Amino acid sequence: MTLGKLSNRRTIFTFGLMATIVATGLILPAFAAEDDEKEPPIIQQMEKISSGYKKLRREARRKTFSEGSKALVKTMLVNSIAAFHEVPPMTKDVPASKKAAFLLQYKAIMKKQIVVMMDLSMALDKGDADGAVKLISQLGTIKKEGHDKYTEE
Ligand code: HEM
Repeated sequence: MTLGKLSNRRTIFTFGLMATIVATGLILPAFAAEDDEKEPPIIQQMEKISSGYKKLRREARRKTFSEGSKALVKTMLVNSIAAFHEVPPMTKDVPASKKAAFLLQYKAIMKKQIVVMMDLSMALDKGDADGAVKLISQLGTIKKEGHDKYTEE
């Protein structure tokens, strides 16, 4: 093989490699963006509610609440208000004639959750640990009601 042919092959290989790198750089972010678009905001809101809820349940078992508990309730409340304005992904499978009632019922359950979280915030302000424990348990009941109707769990 001559030196000229070898350097030609090397040039073709180098161009091929560069083209692959550029194409990967263009295609991968496009897939990532598609994934981002697909995840409905309610999922992130629920994850924030869930993270706070788990910590609060731990505190409820010990019946000792820290200053941090108040901040957790605030985050859960803000995300519940945001979720109140969302449309559960399941809605797309509901017949048009039943959609309005389906969404109103969703809001009614989320409103119950919001009110309980407000009461919980006030119980913590008052240092009412017994009251806080009861309200955290009520959150579990509301969660179950919401998930039974609005998730495919
Ligand atoms: C303490 C209360 C609650 C907690 C801790 C909680 C937690 C969660 C978690 C961990 C998820 C899964 C998120 C993911 O896929 O990564 C979720 C999804 C969801 N939750 Fe909740 N949730 C609560 C209350 C509620 C209530 C009251 C409702 C309805 C009124 C509700 C409706 C939904 C819906 C619609 C989804 C999305 C389901 C889907 O992917 O189609 N949640 N929740």
